[in-house]
Amino acid sequence: MPNQIRRTSVMAGVGQYRQRQLAGQAGVNPSLLGYLGRAMSLEFSAAQQYIAQAALAQNRAELDFAHEFVVLANEEFRHASELTERMVDLGALPAGSILTPATPAMSVLESLSVCQINEQQLIDLYQQAYQLSRNVGSAEDAELFGRLFEEERAQLVRIQQWAADYQARLQAVPKMNRGFA
Ligand SMILES: [Fe+2]
Repeated sequence: MPNQIRRTSVMAGVGQYRQRQLAGQAGVNPSLLGYLGRAMSLEFSAAQQYIAQAALAQNRAELDFAHEFVVLANEEFRHASELTERMVDLGALPAGSILTPATPAMSVLESLSVCQINEQQLIDLYQQAYQLSRNVGSAEDAELFGRLFEEERAQLVRIQQWAADYQARLQAVPKMNRGFA
């Protein structure tokens, strides 16, 4: 019977279990796992950055911005959660994430500039990860990375809009002062 699988385990079920585990790991492209791991590090770094910017904004009594930074941080934690779920589906678990230190900022515009850098890093990574997923024929990973790419782009647009609105408000102030001069 050439198609019959030969099992060498003397314990019923043990060989089957091990074979199934190995099959799950063996089918995963290591580059995909690498992207998932790097994405985790970037998402947690972004979340840490936004929490730090929220605290800095709170110290400057800019409570609206502090709230928005916390919202952004929570969105990044949700992304990290989705990445973790995908890792588990692939038979892996998150390894040690390396976080980028938070950046000091003295104003809202500096904070928003820092946030834009974080978003751009995520966008670039997801673009590469999406392309790799397509190349290796992994539709599920392409869906995940493609969706996260779009969500990061939407976050970047939101941050850019806050910066534009803030600058517009700043430019409006001198006009009022000139009126009183
Ligand atoms: Fe994210």
